[in-house]
Amino acid sequence: MKIPDHLTQALQTIFQEGEMHEKRKGEEAPDFYLSENFLKQSTLISYCDHKFLNSITPRNENALDINGLLEFIHELGFKLATNKIAGCFFYPANGFMGWHTNYSDKDWRIYIVNSIKGDSFFRYKKDDKIITDYDPIGWSYRAFYVGDASDPYWHCVNGGSGRYSIGFRLKKIP
Ligand SMILES: [Fe+2]
Repeated sequence: MKIPDHLTQALQTIFQEGEMHEKRKGEEAPDFYLSENFLKQSTLISYCDHKFLNSITPRNENALDINGLLEFIHELGFKLATNKIAGCFFYPANGFMGWHTNYSDKDWRIYIVNSIKGDSFFRYKKDDKIITDYDPIGWSYRAFYVGDASDPYWHCVNGGSGRYSIGFRLKKIP
């Protein structure tokens, strides 16, 4: 589904006005932390230390203030689980977030993404297969379920030439 223009404008404002904090950890090339080998040697972790990205602190963290967001999420069959933004990042060129599960925060998520050149991706493990899902150029979204330790959802991100992302925790509307 296309993301409504008025919604992307509000999201863009968050990135423009937010405070950026660079986070970088990892001695190997980024691809190493996104590889199947790295996943194989990983023990269950909720949040990954190996990353290179800018975490953004929005000026106003109240997700309810993003005009049109609730309607958009309702159309997808969800409501916000909390009115706080779950994650807001800018991945610079060659930025990444290594394999992790978020198992300590199980819930649905939506991540709304702006990929500068369409060469960034979200990678996850499903039924013992590794799936690499490239982001289209511009704004798009991805909804996924994050399980707990009994059903961990392994995933990682490659920032390509640059990638903005903002995520929210969701509940399914019964
Ligand atoms: Fe994650």
